[in-house]
Amino acid sequence: MKIQRRQSVVLVPHPFQGHLTPMLQLGSILHSQGFVAIVAHTEYNAPNYSNHPEFVFHSMNGGLQGIDMSFPSLENIYDMNENCKAPLKDYLVRMMEEEEDVQGDQLACVIYDNVMFFVDEVATQLRLPSIVLRTFSAAYLNSMLTIFQQPEKYFPFKDSQLLDPLPELHPLRFKDVPFPAINNTVPEPVLEFCRAMSDIGSSVATIWNTMQDLENSMLLRLQEHYKVPFFPIGPFHKVAHSTSSTSILQEDNSCIEWLDRQAPNSILYVSLGSLVRIDNKELIETAWGLANSEQPFLWVIRPGSVSGSQCAEALPDGFEKMVGERGRIVKWAPQKQVLAHPAVAGFFTHCGWNSTLESICEEVPLICRPLLADQLVNARYLSQIYKVGFELEVIERTVIEKTVRKLMLSEEGKDLKKRVVDMKQNIIAGMQTDGSSHKNLNDLVDFISALPS
Ligand code: UDX
Repeated sequence: MKIQRRQSVVLVPHPFQGHLTPMLQLGSILHSQGFVAIVAHTEYNAPNYSNHPEFVFHSMNGGLQGIDMSFPSLENIYDMNENCKAPLKDYLVRMMEEEEDVQGDQLACVIYDNVMFFVDEVATQLRLPSIVLRTFSAAYLNSMLTIFQQPEKYFPFKDSQLLDPLPELHPLRFKDVPFPAINNTVPEPVLEFCRAMSDIGSSVATIWNTMQDLENSMLLRLQEHYKVPFFPIGPFHKVAHSTSSTSILQEDNSCIEWLDRQAPNSILYVSLGSLVRIDNKELIETAWGLANSEQPFLWVIRPGSVSGSQCAEALPDGFEKMVGERGRIVKWAPQKQVLAHPAVAGFFTHCGWNSTLESICEEVPLICRPLLADQLVNARYLSQIYKVGFELEVIERTVIEKTVRKLMLSEEGKDLKKRVVDMKQNIIAGMQTDGSSHKNLNDLVDFISALPS
């Protein structure tokens, strides 16, 4: 249902790729439903305005002064939350003053990424409704909340428990605890930060980049806890219909021409997303695992993603000669296009939630190499519950070689493919009229339209 009167929504993304992308996609979705979408962003990782003529942009100047976000830490994220308060508040106050003079657009609410938790305080002070965007899976939030309720049941754990199931959190094990643990316990400041991120303060609803058809029981459980309306309207990238790039790094489109020259269903796509870093040993083991598998691959090695080196110069001697034309390495790829390419048969991924959804929606089975936080939960669900991925538990060249060959060549690999095709069908059904995401989007539009102004 389209709204009758133009209302605006202010969107406050967290300035990391995996968070910025879904917020911009949500902006496109709301814009297509008749809302004016205003993106209030930090200068750091500012979106490319020219890619998004449908938005009004506002830079929260000064919000990150003196903070080096290229080295994310809890301290930086708290500082960012503190420093952005005044710029956002000033902007919203100006908007509200202008609104009194002008008939027409009306500020309906502020929608913020759960990492930008300062927004709740600003919105409350201005008596503006706010809505939280969850950019990750419901399973991840559920695991955090369960652990917060009784941390002493989980920490400290013993080395001998690593493979034991986490109480009440099947299929997770102690080694999948989605927080950075030090000496088998999670420092209180980390738990404190995650609690802040999980809290919704006085927000009136939450929007999810997930689907009821996939995570219904988890969503229902969470809704009992939060007691506000939930709007799972994903997968955003498919619902948004937007083809504009949301990449912060420059995409190397030459890899698409390279894929065009490859046989259908022949390529393994390898990428660990925008944030995580691996050490040099892992890079070398991965390189030899890929080379020895004899499967063709497209590998994203992001600048700065290998500790202590800038990019691909850390690759082992003889590697490029050995793989020759069979392997292509780029610094950043147009990932959604890559996954949709008929040459791509598998995805070796860190299991970030965006990558997970993008892969499933293109029917691409996965090799799961999670490194932290929600990735650990997503990897377990992909491998143990949805059974569309093989989990890589040991980072060693022979294991990598074997897992790649299993995904690309074996009957077991074909079974994963069948299941991911089914999973995609379910997700697409949810987007059709009468599907859950479609219905939830209509409800969201009605909900925002009816918010008191
Ligand atoms: C981070 C966390 O790591 C992730 O677990 C969380 O769910 C969101 O925040 P990131 O690590 O970047 O995100 O992973 P992911 O969620 O997969 O997002 C990466 C995005 O970058 C995807 O949308 C992907 O399409 C894009 N990408 C990645 C590219 O466009 N090109 C690339 O070469 C690699």
